[in-house]
Amino acid sequence: MAKNSIAFRLFIVVLIVSLIAALLITAVRAWLDYRKAMSDIENTFKEIKITQLPVIRENLWVMDEKTVRTAMQGLLNISHLRHVLIEDKGRVIMEIGSIEAGDAMRGEFPLTYTYGGKTIRLGILKVDISRNGVFEELWGHVKVGLFYTVMMVFLVTFSIYFLFQFMFTRHLSDIAAYVKQIGIDGLEKELLLEKKKTSPQNPDEIDRIVSAINSMRLGLKTTFDELQDEIQTRKQVEEEKARMEEQYLQAQKVEAVGRLAGGVAHDLNNLLIPILGYGEMLRDNLAPDDARLKFIDGIMDAGFRARDLVSRLLAFGRKQTLEYRTIDLSKAVEGFEKLLRRTIREDIEIKVLLSPDIHGVMADLGQIEQVIMNLAVNAAEAMPGGGTLTIETTLADLDEEYAATHPEVEPGEYVMLVVSDTGCGMDDEVRKHIFEPFFTTKGEGGTGLGLATVHGIVRQHGGSIWFYSEPFKGTTFKIYLPVTGKVDAGVATVEKTAPTDLHGWETILLVEDNEHVREVSRAILEQFGYRVLSAESGSEALRVLEDHESSVHLLLTDVVMPGMNGRDLFTQASALYPGLKVLYMSGYTEDVITHRGVVDEGIQFIQKPFAVQALGAKVREVLEGDKTEAPLNYSGL
Ligand SMILES: Nc1ncnc2c1ncn2[C@@H]1O[C@H](COP(=O)(O)OP(=O)(O)OP(=O)(O)O)[C@@H](O)[C@H]1O
Ligand SMILES: [Mg+2]
Repeated sequence: MAKNSIAFRLFIVVLIVSLIAALLITAVRAWLDYRKAMSDIENTFKEIKITQLPVIRENLWVMDEKTVRTAMQGLLNISHLRHVLIEDKGRVIMEIGSIEAGDAMRGEFPLTYTYGGKTIRLGILKVDISRNGVFEELWGHVKVGLFYTVMMVFLVTFSIYFLFQFMFTRHLSDIAAYVKQIGIDGLEKELLLEKKKTSPQNPDEIDRIVSAINSMRLGLKTTFDELQDEIQTRKQVEEEKARMEEQYLQAQKVEAVGRLAGGVAHDLNNLLIPILGYGEMLRDNLAPDDARLKFIDGIMDAGFRARDLVSRLLAFGRKQTLEYRTIDLSKAVEGFEKLLRRTIREDIEIKVLLSPDIHGVMADLGQIEQVIMNLAVNAAEAMPGGGTLTIETTLADLDEEYAATHPEVEPGEYVMLVVSDTGCGMDDEVRKHIFEPFFTTKGEGGTGLGLATVHGIVRQHGGSIWFYSEPFKGTTFKIYLPVTGKVDAGVATVEKTAPTDLHGWETILLVEDNEHVREVSRAILEQFGYRVLSAESGSEALRVLEDHESSVHLLLTDVVMPGMNGRDLFTQASALYPGLKVLYMSGYTEDVITHRGVVDEGIQFIQKPFAVQALGAKVREVLEGDKTEAPLNYSGL
């Protein structure tokens, strides 16, 4: 019996209280018994007076001593009556039995006899009842009563203890053990008291405690699960934020490199113009069976590759001159899908999920196709054993929450282009560098300019690019382009018909600060039959115009030159020659003729480096076209 258990304490309390109660009850009973015994003695004396006294008196009168003695003897049969004596004036006449002086409760009865009208005194009958005898009997009753009561008390108390233990304490112990082990992981396990019978219709207090604990457990579990979810979400947001910040920092670095690359590309462009221009003219001047054609083709081939590289560097450095239209990205992907299927290996499944309900974005279709192609080729290369390439377009509302985790993203409506693969994915090290130009893990097989170009194009479009990649799981690129409004109906499909005869006779004023470019351009134009006046700066060009007597038809000018830029030159020149037409040439996007990389409306423009045929075609197009109605531009090589 554990001393600190409730059952034990209950046992002790019930025991003490019951014992006190038992003692009190016994005492009361003893007192009542005592009162009854006293009244019994009174009654005994009365009875003696009525029944025995006449017998003794009659026989004492006739001196029948024997009968008197017998009668007295009979009195001794009364319980606790120990001593009977007849006395007359202090003299003992007859005495039976004995008693100690202090022990006696005495009854005295005068013995008189009436004879001849006279009352004759015969003596006094004294009977002594033993007080101790009465008390002993009473005490005997008390002892028996007390014994049974105490036995009863113990029996009842033990019963209560065991019942309490059985009905309450052991379940409480089970509950305590359950609550102690429950913990965060144990919230799944329901509290069930296996030792207890429960009636769901009629639950007792323990059942109610169990059900309360179970409800509390469920409540805790829900709260804990919610808390877990909350922590998980926050963790994900933090991770996402960290990842995006890392990508942002990388992007900043890449953009700095991009500026450098753009500058280098510009200078390379000027070097490529004479190489390609003279090369092309040389080739045209050689007979088809001339053995030197092979060398020239080699030079031209290298020149073309260099031109591609320059063009990609320009794209990376955000220096491409873009032809913006408001396009429907879903339609753009749809139109590009066929080419994509021909380019991507057959063991790769291409899934195209296009949202039909997409808003327009301002974009250069060709550049967007370039983006998709670069991403798709990368995806295919990441899945050497085959896999799935998914291209998706959808409308995305980027809210404040998204903007908070993605640096430099303004909340708003975007069109999202997602390109994902189930390929090899990237580890941390690769992830850090992918947008850097010339970073490749493909050795000789890659230039490392694919993603740098993608990055430049997306940023030049005012969009943002993010990626998610895990080794062996795959990679997802997400591109967001800001929504601009309605799609330009049909503009993207306008076909240009290039002039077939590129020869002309007109006079062209060629203005270019780079001597090599100027010379090769002059040579090309002269080859087509034009009369060429040339100048190396704007002021010299104006002087040439002033000195020139006959008409000048076209101003072919570089955009950025020391002193006066191409546009200002045209403004001043057209004052001298009101009908003068203009064709700008530039290596990369210049704010002079473009607005944030977009060629201004109505401006004729040719991208450097240009091919001989392209320059010829463009010059004819400008000379034959109406200046005011000229198409946006034609940057094509
Ligand atoms: N979808 C992809 N899955 C796994 N890794 C990729 C993925 N896309 C790009 N990468 C990694 O990023 C690097 C850079 O890609 P990027 O397109 O700029 O260059 P490249 O593909 O190596 O060369 P290039 O595109 O000029 O042929 C790749 O070498 C590759 O390691
Ligand atoms: Mg690539």
